[in-house]
Amino acid sequence: MERTYLMIKPDAVQRGLVGDIISRFEKKGFKLVAMKFIRLTQEMAEKHYGEHADKPFFAGLVQYITSGPVVAMAWEGNDVVAVSREMMGATHPAKAAPGTIRGTYAVDIGRNVIHGSDSVASAEKELAIYFEEAEFVQWDRTVESWIV
Ligand code: PPS
Repeated sequence: MERTYLMIKPDAVQRGLVGDIISRFEKKGFKLVAMKFIRLTQEMAEKHYGEHADKPFFAGLVQYITSGPVVAMAWEGNDVVAVSREMMGATHPAKAAPGTIRGTYAVDIGRNVIHGSDSVASAEKELAIYFEEAEFVQWDRTVESWIV
């Protein structure tokens, strides 16, 4: 089953949006298989966003993502990488469709509420930063057959 890494960012934690954001993915039919409430170290942030190290926004991005706690999660489901990106809306909240998470809650690219892996390969890489293999919980949902 496809997996993605989703991270509720510090601004969303501060604004009390954790429950709503998790609820959207639960109601969609995706399955939560790992979750941690953590504060990223500088090292974790630099590893996560390493491919953007030469971008002008990199220092600000690292400062923002380490500024407070985040909710780090692994979710499973059919096409969960692409579908969760659709549910999040465009990276720049000004371009995010109304009703999406960013379209509903954000206006600033530097405070865009949530991160989601942009490919299956990125998901694997990002999940490995936050979770040991043994931390992924295998469980059966009784509603599964009604969703998929
Ligand atoms: S790029 O240049 O197209 O590769 O960058 P992009 O994929 O749009 O964004 C990569 C991550 O950097 C965040 N970002 C920013 N943060 C702060 N300020 C500015 N100006 C900015 N531009 C991009 C963006 O939200 C992406 O992080 P995630 O966590 O994936 O959303």
